[in-house]
Amino acid sequence: MDGLLDLDHKHALDRDCMTLSRHVLQQLQSFSADAQDLSALMNRIGLAAKLIARRFSRAGLMEDVLGFTGQTNVQGESVKKMDVYANQVFISAFEQSGLVCRLASEEMEKPYYIPENCPIGRYTLLYDPVDGSGNIDINLNIGSIFAIRQQEGMDLDGDARDLLQSGRKQVAAGYILYGPSTILVYSMGRGVHMFTLDPSLGEFILSQENIRVPDHGPVYSVNEGNFWQWEEPIQDYIRYVHRHEGYTARYSGALVGDFHRILMQGGVFLYPGTVKKPEGKLRLLYETAPLAYLIEQAGGRASTGTQDLLDVIPDKLHARTPFIIGSKEDVALVESFIREHTRQTRPEAIAP
Ligand code: F6P
Ligand code: MG
Repeated sequence: MDGLLDLDHKHALDRDCMTLSRHVLQQLQSFSADAQDLSALMNRIGLAAKLIARRFSRAGLMEDVLGFTGQTNVQGESVKKMDVYANQVFISAFEQSGLVCRLASEEMEKPYYIPENCPIGRYTLLYDPVDGSGNIDINLNIGSIFAIRQQEGMDLDGDARDLLQSGRKQVAAGYILYGPSTILVYSMGRGVHMFTLDPSLGEFILSQENIRVPDHGPVYSVNEGNFWQWEEPIQDYIRYVHRHEGYTARYSGALVGDFHRILMQGGVFLYPGTVKKPEGKLRLLYETAPLAYLIEQAGGRASTGTQDLLDVIPDKLHARTPFIIGSKEDVALVESFIREHTRQTRPEAIAP
């Protein structure tokens, strides 16, 4: 031996050194200033994830972490204390970064500017700080969702019209899943990669590269309590899976967890519109578009039922979309029920 490790140990060490920030540089195959910025940006998202994970893991032992604040957010939802904390964590993580000039989240009516970053910070971070917050108080899986977009324009008055563009404008997207372990999944348009937080190092370490979603999977994931509020074609699809062998239902009430299962094992997640709310529940800019970006990168599909989700242009910051996402064959099957229903009821709406 010449003082160097043998190859097996060297490979194990290389694997342990594949942190999030290093992986971004490897993905972009560059050490340019732009690549360094994106690497630093992902590193700060990782920091936010670690802070949130730490607080979740100790929530039952601390005062004033669980429960509601008594306030209602712009979506009309009751705000939890962890929603407020996690929303602030992402802001604090990007202060004095020179990276992100503007953040927009589920918890804030208008985008939040960090003026000191704006002269050089060219990115906007869109995020859902705590997704599935109904699960917080019962210690079940929760997540955060994020997307990065290039900032076009500097309207500090806050109307942020440049954000009203399709999901194809996303530079990167991902989510964090706070489960038995904390994982971070991201894409920058070159495949989907998963990192696991190693608590002994305090680092996200690469655990799976280039995730591919199977073309078909057994799981359908939907809140069937809404059955009687759905339009007919969604009801017909659910009747179809009930009558055919090989399907199984899984629904945790937290999008990130349900989506992660589909990404890894295949199947379909649905949050369709209802008769009263045709646009559904989930928000485009920081929930459905980031996950749609990931699933396309993994070889799957995301749809509103009639349109590719990544082509939808929101009309406002907190716009909602019906959402069907997962294995391409399963998404196509749901779409076929919708198309058939339209063909029968409004044939003129079907393109020749
Ligand atoms: O962010 C909204 C959300 O909490 C998702 O995480 C989840 O998939 C969905 O709402 C659950 O909604 P419902 O309780 O209506 O099924
Ligand atoms: Mg959410």
